[in-house]
Amino acid sequence: MKRTPEPELMQIPSQVRAYADADFSRSDSMVVESLEKYLKKVGRTLNKSDLILDIACGPGNIAERIAKNWPFVKVVGIDGSKEMLNEAEKKLAEIPINNLSYELIEINSIAKGEMNFRFKADVLVSNSALHHFHDPFRFWGALKKLGKNKCIHIHRDLIRPTSLEKAFEIKEKHLTNSPEILKKDFFASLKASFTVNEVTQQLVHAGLSQLEVFQIDELYFEVIGCI
Ligand SMILES: C[S@@+](CC[C@H](N)C(=O)[O-])C[C@H]1O[C@@H](n2cnc3c(N)ncnc32)[C@H](O)[C@@H]1O
Repeated sequence: MKRTPEPELMQIPSQVRAYADADFSRSDSMVVESLEKYLKKVGRTLNKSDLILDIACGPGNIAERIAKNWPFVKVVGIDGSKEMLNEAEKKLAEIPINNLSYELIEINSIAKGEMNFRFKADVLVSNSALHHFHDPFRFWGALKKLGKNKCIHIHRDLIRPTSLEKAFEIKEKHLTNSPEILKKDFFASLKASFTVNEVTQQLVHAGLSQLEVFQIDELYFEVIGCI
């Protein structure tokens, strides 16, 4: 199936609400587990001078988990949608997490050099972010600018199904009881996603071929490594 990009930023209030209300806890926790496993595998520990950036953090579910898991590490969630960050900030106001904060940053502007983030990250994570980018090289380009030397990367995203019929079947199977708006968004995301082969090629062309890509299940791939 040919890729159909979807709008980059998620800004429509009903869409943001539905996304923020959805339960993605299973896949959210897998990002934390992957980071834990990777740190163990390479024998690295995080310390209090480290910075973890959650790229395109949306309502902050993953950033929250990471910040709670490593309470001595500074965690910053960045997203270009004010509406999404409002959801994240609302939760943070109700239950403060001292080592977590959010910043409104449009990520293409980092890739293009129009904007800088004042610190370089020791760990960059993202979930369901890459497929939002109309030009995936802007995403990888921004990551190169945001990470320190020897930065750890964990990026998970959806795999584009082989056909529209398969995308429809996956949507019905995984979002059976979800609100229509979420199903519609998920279907659009599946169509906008990349295949594992495409991501492998992207990494080569972006000069990031030290990162490994592998399929996790029928929905997700993961990019992992240190550069
Ligand atoms: C599907 S959500 C994923 C949110 C979160 N990572 C999660 O897994 O729950 C995608 C997020 O990427 C953000 N996004 C898309 N393109 C972006 C860009 N160019 N700059 C900053 N954020 C972007 C959207 O606003 C949205 O919040």
